[in-house]
Amino acid sequence: MDGKKVILSGIQPSGALTLGSYIGAIKNWVELSEEYECYYCIVDLHAITVRQDPATLRRNTLTQLAQYIAAGLDPNKNVLFVQSHVPAHTQLAWALNCFTMFGELGRMTQFKEKSVKNPENINAGLFTYPVLMAADILVYQADLVPVGDDQKQHLEITRDIAQRFNAAHGDTFKIPEPFIPKIGARIMDLQEPENKMSKSEISAGRVCVGDRPEDIMRAFKRAVTDSGSEIRFDPEAKPGISNLMQIYAVCANKTLAEVESEFSGSGYGAFKTAVGEAVVETLRPIREESERLLGDRAYLEKICADGAARAARTADKTVRRVYKKLGFVAV
Ligand code: TYM
Repeated sequence: MDGKKVILSGIQPSGALTLGSYIGAIKNWVELSEEYECYYCIVDLHAITVRQDPATLRRNTLTQLAQYIAAGLDPNKNVLFVQSHVPAHTQLAWALNCFTMFGELGRMTQFKEKSVKNPENINAGLFTYPVLMAADILVYQADLVPVGDDQKQHLEITRDIAQRFNAAHGDTFKIPEPFIPKIGARIMDLQEPENKMSKSEISAGRVCVGDRPEDIMRAFKRAVTDSGSEIRFDPEAKPGISNLMQIYAVCANKTLAEVESEFSGSGYGAFKTAVGEAVVETLRPIREESERLLGDRAYLEKICADGAARAARTADKTVRRVYKKLGFVAV
């Protein structure tokens, strides 16, 4: 794939794909996919750090693949694959575990939050989660990682691990940069605009890519707004309206200033309806096409197999290189 810069990113199939992940990640994946050599995966190995029902996980994985394609990721131009199909991720993760410090993993916000939410299952996988994520990225020698704001800390530790390995064994890994969108990097729950819209918590303020139009409209009409009546971008003073403005700006392809002037003088009710309609129209083709694709399981399985083979070709090279540098005997 012709000297292009490399992108890697992934989403956990631990629940339905949310509007947050669509705006924070997938939309940018599609936009970047022309310019870069792209590896986009479904990170099922990461998902099992929290207990999953196997049948649901399997269904979510295939649904997510169908949604990637339906959102505009052409499987011929991008390498679309399932993480557990490419053993190089875990092979590299073990080696990187030995270059990652206990203390730095203990400082990870996501680990701390998930430990509070799942006190009965603070497993070692949850703790070493960022190392597997570093392996996902470094095994492809990725230049750029398009993610939402909440993954910033994981990108920082990835860079630290790569630098530590390079310092010990010579230049081995490219140091990746995060790509975090200016608008929509942190979409908030429509009912609790102080909290991130989350995949794992079912809430009336969560909108998913596969939701029906009437459910999307209901969620937006009921969205919590702020006191006052002005449509103005001010995340501190007006978290609810500012969140809706970001969603509208991305879905209607406008700047925040354009959104402000378009709705100056209109009430919150009319604005919420307009945001809901823009989201419905953005998600409708994705939902319809992904439902069609899900009817053709053989096609999706073929995409998985092709994607895994293409991903492994790149990833295996890195593992061989790393294992050699570490002093493992080659066969
Ligand atoms: P995950 O599965 O929680 O989320 C997937 C992507 O969606 C973004 N995102 C959001 N963006 C804006 N607003 C929101 N409310 C919102 N919710 C989610 C996330 O920032 C992310 O980009 N650890 C990762 C998965 C992962 C990964 C990787 C990502 C594993 N290996 C390698 C990039 C590269 C995660 O849990 O994302």
